[in-house]
Order: sequence, then C-alpha cells, then structure tokens
Amino acid sequence: MSGCLLELQDLRFAWPGSAHDCLDIAALQVAAGETVFLHGPSGCGKSTLLSLLAGVLLPRSGRVALDGVDWADLRATARDRHRVDHVGYIFQQFNLLPYLTALDNVLLPCRFSTRRRDAAARSARSLRAEGRHWLAGMGLDASVWDRPAHTLSVGQQQRVAAARALVGQPGLVIADEPTSALDEDRRDVFLDLLLSACAAAGSALVLVSHDRRIAQRFGREVALAQINRAARAAEGDA
Ligand SMILES: Nc1ncnc2c1ncn2[C@@H]1O[C@H](COP(=O)(O)OP(=O)(O)O)[C@@H](O)[C@H]1O
Ligand SMILES: [Mg+2]
Repeated sequence: MSGCLLELQDLRFAWPGSAHDCLDIAALQVAAGETVFLHGPSGCGKSTLLSLLAGVLLPRSGRVALDGVDWADLRATARDRHRVDHVGYIFQQFNLLPYLTALDNVLLPCRFSTRRRDAAARSARSLRAEGRHWLAGMGLDASVWDRPAHTLSVGQQQRVAAARALVGQPGLVIADEPTSALDEDRRDVFLDLLLSACAAAGSALVLVSHDRRIAQRFGREVALAQINRAARAAEGDA
C-alpha cells in the first residue's frame, strides 16, 4: 500500500507462560506522517502493542512491517539498527542518561544510526545545530542545552526525550503515556509542541494515553479494546 509506513496483519501475541493471547488484531495501518491516538484502559495491552510496532517484541504469528520490512525477518542486531534508523521512542519515564547534557542525550540516536546522522547533516550546518534545533522546537532555550539531564525538571526532561525522538527525522515517533507525569497546562503545551515538531519532521506519531480528552488533536483515534479480539474473547469468557 503506497504511503503506508506501518502495517500490521493478523497479529497474535501471548506473553511467555500465558495460556491466553494478550493481543489478537486483524489489521492496523499507519500512513506516513499520520497522527494516531491509541487509547484503552490500564492493562489492555497498549504498551505491549507499542513494543510490537517497534520490533522490541515479536508476535507469535502475523506480520508487523515498518517501511516494508517485517521485523520478524531481521536478526536481533539488524532489528536494533532498523529501529534506531526509523523509530523515535518517548517513554513514560523518559529514559534519559542522567549525566549526559540535554544536547548529548538528543544526539544519542545519531551516534547509533548512520541514517539519522545523515538526515541531520543534510538539514543543518552541524549535528549539534540539528540537536539544538529540535530542543528549541520543543520549547527549550539555550540555558538548558548544556545542563546534565538529571538537573532538569520533569517537564524539561520530557521535552528533551521528545527532541531525542525527533532528531534525524525518523519515519515513526512512538510515545507511551508521555504526559502522565505532567499537570494539565503542561500537558497541553507539550502535546502542541510534539505535534508541531512531528509535522515539521514529517514523522508519523502513535501516542498512547488513557486520557481521551486529548484525542481531538490527532488525525485518528484507535480504541485498542475494539480492535483487539483477544480482549473481546476474554470478556466473553468472563
Ligand atoms: N513483561 C511482561 N511479562 C508478562 N506479562 C506482561 C508483561 N508486560 C505486560 N504484561 C501483561 O500484559 C498485559 C498488557 O499490559 P500492558 O501492555 O502493559 O498494558 P497497558 O500499557 O495498556 O497498561 C497485562 O495483563 C500485563 O500484566
Ligand atoms: Mg502501558
């Protein structure tokens, strides 16, 4: 399918040792540049699905392909390379390296990905200029660029994590409950900045939250419980 960045077909996934599938999804597609809001109650499998989209986990059957490449066709090291080339991941707890500066945290993907380093080099005078560009795009000014991540506020750290996901303009940005540590005002500002930055980068965004009030800001809304046949089967069992 043209313009299709991420394609999931007949996916089934069970955690090791579990007798039941956690996820059973017939189809899910994300087009290049699309913004998708994925929601559902706690424990319904949102984080698990994100790990499958990013090739961190592999399904027991079915296909998950990013940029036309099925994660299951790659060996572990090639999977890691494909992920750092094409996916920026924003974690709920940010996962910054605490003693690196904000800027050095942002530049980490470029250390591991030639593709993102080259993309950054094409769009800026230097790699560091590119890192500063995305930090500024997330509303962080020069006073924080050279500060160690552990000295920053929670809100600042979350913006650094977003800038790190965007550097080198990967096709897909994944964000797992990125606003859960922020209060409401900060949450709205963060989402505005993130959506604008993804549009500027040309990156698709798949963002998970249990907070449906933010859904209207996205191009599309997906209720995981509705597309997950395993959840419906579990309900039927109960
Ligand atoms: N590492 C793991 N090992 C085994 N089961 C897990 C693991 N992580 C999550 N699960 C289970 O998978 C289900 C979905 O979890 P999760 O994807 O974290 O849900 P959500 O992100 O929607 O809250 C839950 O029943 C959870 O207990
Ligand atoms: Mg989760």
